[in-house]
Amino acid sequence: MTTSLLLSLLFSFVILASAANFNQDIDVTWGDGRGKILENGNLLTLTLDKFSGSGFQSKNQYLFGKIDMNIKLVPGNSAGTVTTYYLRSEGSTWDEIDFEFLGNLSGDPYIVHTNVYTQGKGDKEQQFYLWFDPTKDFHTYSLLWNPQRIIFSVDGTPIREFKDLETTGVAFPKSQPMSVYSSLWNADNWATRGGLVKTDWRKAPFTAAYRNYKADACVWSSGKSSCSSTSPFQNSWQSQELDITSQERLKWVQKNYMIYNYCTDTKRFPQGLPKECTAP
Ligand SMILES: *[C@@H]1O[C@H](CO)[C@@H](O)[C@H](O)[C@H]1NC(C)=O
Repeated sequence: MTTSLLLSLLFSFVILASAANFNQDIDVTWGDGRGKILENGNLLTLTLDKFSGSGFQSKNQYLFGKIDMNIKLVPGNSAGTVTTYYLRSEGSTWDEIDFEFLGNLSGDPYIVHTNVYTQGKGDKEQQFYLWFDPTKDFHTYSLLWNPQRIIFSVDGTPIREFKDLETTGVAFPKSQPMSVYSSLWNADNWATRGGLVKTDWRKAPFTAAYRNYKADACVWSSGKSSCSSTSPFQNSWQSQELDITSQERLKWVQKNYMIYNYCTDTKRFPQGLPKECTAP
């Protein structure tokens, strides 16, 4: 390999995979000062009080990518609060890939809620408990989105895979660029035990913290992708799939930590389960 080729490979790696700085890559979009970028761009905090929550958005839009974020969720009594972290495109027929973290009373488990929307249609919820306390430390929440599949992971362990089954008539998000969003807000009408447990405002402000945003992704700008169309798989995430070990991990999570799966909710779909649920 020539030195210049090696250098250009290294250079493109640096461009595509560098851990981001919140000042450079994120806009705090709402909350009137309740969202803050700290430590020279290395830490971001969102807060919620009685009057408002807060949220941020990536400056870039992506069409496929692997997006990692370290999040430390609201500690203590977080009942009634929801922290969201998701990808979403614009418009009324949007695509969306969702993580939502539903708070709880001290010591009771958070719920990790996931969903996938294509062309404005979701209804693909899966929910999980975690195998650790997500309020004690930062943990990595990742969305891998490539043309074949979407993989939700927590600390590198896949918790959900949504495959492109368009050949069987199931829509898959693949044409609309998405931005990264996050927010902390109050949803005590439904979030904790279905709305039974309300937010205790005496504990406000509630704070969630973020570090190490990393978008290993194809940036979409002025109708063009930063990824080459001639060599489609220049990055490993673009063709990444679950190897045997990851498949085992996914099964372990689904067996021990999954608490809701739309694919087994026959009451909800009396005319038959959605197609992707019965696909081989
Ligand atoms: C909160 O804790 C209760 C009791 O353990 C549990 O049933 C529920 O699933 C937990 N999570 C949420 C978000 O309600």
